Amino acid sequence: MSYPYQIKSMEEYQDAYRLSIEQPELFWANIASHFKWKKAPYGKVLNWNFEEPKIEWFKNATLNITENCLDRHLAEYGDMPAIIWEPNDPEDNHRILTYRKLYDKVCQFAHVLKNNGVKKGDRVCIYMGMIPELAVAVLACARIGAIHSVIFGGFSAQAIADRLYDAQATFIITCDGAYRGQKDIPLKSVIDDALIGNRTVQKVIVCTRTRTPVSMIKGRDLWWDDEIHKVETLGLHDFPAEEMSAEDPLFILYTSGSTGKPKGVVHACGGYMLYTNYSFVNVFQYQRGDIHFCTADIGWITGHSYILYGPLSAGATTLIFEGVPTFPDAGRFWSIVDKYRVNILYTAPTAIRSLMGFGLGPIQNHDLSSLKVLGTVGEPINEEAWHWYHQHIGKGRCPIVDTWWQTETGGILISNMAGVTPEKASWATLPLPGVQPILVDEQGKEITESDDDGIQKGNLCIKFPWPSILRTTYGDHERCRTNYFATYDHLYFTGDGALKDADGNFRITGRVDDVLNVSGHRIGTAEVENAINMHAGVVESAVVGYPHDIKGQGIYAYIIYQGNHGDENLTRQDILQTVTRMIGPIAKPDKIQFVQGLPKTRSGKIMRRILRKIAEGETENLGDITTLLDPHVVEEIKNGRLV
Ligand code: PRX
Repeated sequence: MSYPYQIKSMEEYQDAYRLSIEQPELFWANIASHFKWKKAPYGKVLNWNFEEPKIEWFKNATLNITENCLDRHLAEYGDMPAIIWEPNDPEDNHRILTYRKLYDKVCQFAHVLKNNGVKKGDRVCIYMGMIPELAVAVLACARIGAIHSVIFGGFSAQAIADRLYDAQATFIITCDGAYRGQKDIPLKSVIDDALIGNRTVQKVIVCTRTRTPVSMIKGRDLWWDDEIHKVETLGLHDFPAEEMSAEDPLFILYTSGSTGKPKGVVHACGGYMLYTNYSFVNVFQYQRGDIHFCTADIGWITGHSYILYGPLSAGATTLIFEGVPTFPDAGRFWSIVDKYRVNILYTAPTAIRSLMGFGLGPIQNHDLSSLKVLGTVGEPINEEAWHWYHQHIGKGRCPIVDTWWQTETGGILISNMAGVTPEKASWATLPLPGVQPILVDEQGKEITESDDDGIQKGNLCIKFPWPSILRTTYGDHERCRTNYFATYDHLYFTGDGALKDADGNFRITGRVDDVLNVSGHRIGTAEVENAINMHAGVVESAVVGYPHDIKGQGIYAYIIYQGNHGDENLTRQDILQTVTRMIGPIAKPDKIQFVQGLPKTRSGKIMRRILRKIAEGETENLGDITTLLDPHVVEEIKNGRLV
């Protein structure tokens, strides 16, 4: 069975797109009519300007997203699996939560939150591994109207402390530990470190997963199971869903930008629900009963939108996988596809490239015939990886959706729709209905010129709001304005460069700002530099990206070091430790080159363009370097380049 707003042909796509541009309010009001509202949308659908920015969708309507993700499915689909959970170790038992079971657990945990004083609008930090309780915690926050801020399990205590402070969080939900492949990450102990000096957090709920010994602080730390037991003893079951304005914040998710400090991107209840559902159903062409497997972590936006909210609001079966693609062997994804007869597989190019490296052996002996649709997200997919995915995983019969979007966009903005609109290897292709992308030059003027092949090239902007656009950056609206809406007048600037062909297809070429994309994770160069500079011996540093076969981009750091060098490799290890402490292992530079000086303009600005070229291996055409304060440093840097 399909959905009434599911697009089934190119003609339907064109009609929907046309209507969404000509009458956006009517278009989205029609979609909204298929959801469960407490107070139905009426009156003005959209208020907006990109100057402040102010964006309000269905301002007068009220809802609770969990009624759309849970309650409304119970009568017909109560016994259908909502979540299939596959543990890290394939020898351990998997779990299946039906919609009824998930509903019960979410209500129970909402009671736990309420009993412990959590109220609508409170910020709750969630730092857990990929277990069903993570989904329960997220949804229970939404049920009670608390704003969740999920932090990926790979972030360090310092990174968590910064996020707790920024959100003024009062509550934390965590686990004793998390399994990731062969690693056992001591989550609670990281939280303990993050809480040193914290003044806002009142309680920490700890869910048991790894049985790693933890220290529990009296009056602050509580066990998940004990709290559930109390709710059971009190005989509490259903939990009435809090009435939320469509514009109330649903969650905060921190992401890196070109400045040093991560930003808390805020999404609103109504528009986010509508758009994640609409894009999920259309891009993946989900059919009731299909098994959807998104391999992302719920700590990133992909997990929020396409493991949890999009699929669950559509009554889908979503698969949550605790482990990593290469444990216990590189056939892990394929054995999961086989075991559960997965129909939709959504993963990242970096995972595909790393699995390609293991050859075809790990695929053999796994039946992949259940697959109908493949998807990629997070970074540009190179043609080689695209063809490998298409041929060896999709066996040439599954469309691949190359989905372009961002933490800030909430959902997929540019992508083909599986089997409905044409695919083009390494192109994200066409905008979804409601999305109006344009390419501009450095001055913000729309690109009109094409090259001989009919290709246009420019900076990617969006000129009209879609329902799941970010509303603000938490606690600092001005930051939201300057980051996204001030580069070009009246436009949302994505930070990406793109190409557009004569048929209107887009190909995203990568970031044009100082943001790196390492294994599909966004990392600000300034953030990494700040972390490196914390090391006592470091005078100054500059970080750039360079092409990396598996990660897409690697991190190359040029460092002026004045401490006692001693053993250079030990110093490197020390610096990597510092970065791991300040941010987390994902931000560790792949290469560290010690230098005497950095190429700077006379006004003191680091010429990253030159550093980037050298890191990429281009040592000849560095452009004009005569304007540099000290052109000699370039020679030294070139000579010391790490291969
Ligand atoms: O550069 C683009 C790249 O990932 C950035 C967004 O990162 P993040 O907010 O962490 O969200 C990742 C998951 C949605 C974008 O600015 N990106 C994402 N998807 C694609 C992509 N680049 C090319 N093709 C894609 N399909």
